[in-house]
Amino acid sequence: MNKVSSCELSVVIPTYNEAENIQILLGRLSEVLRDIDYEVIVVDDDSPDLTWQLVELAQQTNSRFRIIRRIGSKGLSSAVITGLVAANGRCMAVMDSDLQHDEKILPDLLEQVQRGSDICVGSREAPGGSYGNWSATRKLVSFTAKGLAQQLIGTSVSDPMSGFFAISRNYFDSTIDRVNPTGFKILLEFVARGKTPNTTEVGYTFRTRLHGETKLNATVIVEYLLALIDLRFGWLIPNQFVKFGIVGLTGSMVNFMGFALILGLGASVPWAVIAGVELAIVWTYFANNKFTFTPFTFKGKDFFLGFGLYQIVCCYGLVVQLSVVSTLLQHFPSMGERLLSLYFIYLIGVAFAAVGNYFLHQYYTWNRLGFTVLKPQRTVIV
Ligand code: GDD
Ligand code: MN
Repeated sequence: MNKVSSCELSVVIPTYNEAENIQILLGRLSEVLRDIDYEVIVVDDDSPDLTWQLVELAQQTNSRFRIIRRIGSKGLSSAVITGLVAANGRCMAVMDSDLQHDEKILPDLLEQVQRGSDICVGSREAPGGSYGNWSATRKLVSFTAKGLAQQLIGTSVSDPMSGFFAISRNYFDSTIDRVNPTGFKILLEFVARGKTPNTTEVGYTFRTRLHGETKLNATVIVEYLLALIDLRFGWLIPNQFVKFGIVGLTGSMVNFMGFALILGLGASVPWAVIAGVELAIVWTYFANNKFTFTPFTFKGKDFFLGFGLYQIVCCYGLVVQLSVVSTLLQHFPSMGERLLSLYFIYLIGVAFAAVGNYFLHQYYTWNRLGFTVLKPQRTVIV
C-alpha cells in the first residue's frame, strides 16, 4: 500500500555537528522553496554541538521544518533512510547540510521527478556542474571511485558518488527493502538495487565547506569498496563474509609470523604452532569485533566474554578442519603424496572451517546468547 503523501517535496538533511551551517541552510531553503508545498526533515545523530536544538528553534518560525534526533545510532546512509521513511512528500530530495550542495537546483530536481524520472541526480559532472576548487588528490580519489562504480554497477549516472538527489515516492517504495543502510553511498544503493531506474541529472557547483569539518575519512574509502563488492556480488557472497575473509587472511599472516618468531626464540615446533594459532585467534578476534560484526561489537566487560565464545568456536573450527583433511586423505591417499595436492586438500579443510566458523560467529558468538551488546536505540521525532 502506498503512503498517502501530504506534500509535494520532502527535503531530507542528515546532520552531525553542523551547528554553524544548519540555520543558514534552513533560511536559504525557506527562500528557494517558497512556491512549493514542502517539508524539511533534518536527521541529527544527537550532535554534541546541539545542531538538533537549532532546528527545534527554527521550527518555531517555520512549521515545515521537522527534526528527527536519533540517539544511539550513527551513520550517514542510515540517517538518510530514517528521514526518507518518515517523509510525506510525493518527491523526496536528499542533501548535505554543510552548504556544499547548491539548494537553488532543488526546484529543478523536483521538476524532473514530477516529469517522470525515478531519480534526478544533482551532478558535478553534468552540464553546468563542477567540483569547485577541489585539490588534485581529492579529484583523483573521486574520479577513481566514480569509474569503479560505473564499471562494476554499469550505471550511466555521471556522478554516482553524489549525496544530492531527488527520488520519486514510487521508486523509493519499490526499492527501500533492498537498500543497505551502511556507509556513505546511499545514491548508489538506490541506483543499483532496484530495477534500472530512469534517471536524469541537473548540474551544480560543489561549494567549499566554510564551517565545521568533513566526516569523510580513510575508513570511508574501505567502506565504499566493500559496498561496491556487495552491490555487485552481494547476491552470491554476503559483505560480512568478505570482511571475515579479509580478516582471516591477515590472521593467516599473523599465524605464520607468530610461528616463525616463537620458533626463532628456541621453542619446539608444536609450541610454536600453538603460539601462532593463538596469536592469530587473538588478532582476528580484535579485528572481527571491530570490523566484521559491527554493530554487535563486544565492549567493556563483554569484550572478554566475546573472546571466550570466539575461542570455543575457533576450537570447533580446528576440529572441522582436521576432520575434513583426514577424511579426504583416507579416501584419496595418493593426494597426500604430492605437496601440491596436499595443499589443495588443506585448503578445502580451511574453506569448510571458515564457512562453519563464520556462521557460528555470526549467530552464536556475536549475536545469539541474548547478551545485549547494543545500546537501546531511541528515536525522537518532532
Ligand atoms: N546524521 C548523520 N550521521 N549525518 C552525518 C553523518 C552521520 O553519521 N556523517 C555525516 N553526516 C552529514 C554531515 O553533517 C553533512 O551534512 C553530510 O552528512 C555530508 O557529510 P560531509 O562530512 O560533509 O561529507 P563530504 O562532503 O565529505 O561528502 C559528500 O560528498 C561525497 C562525494 O564527494 C557527501 O555528499 C557524500 O554523500 C558524497 O558521497
Ligand atoms: Mn560536505
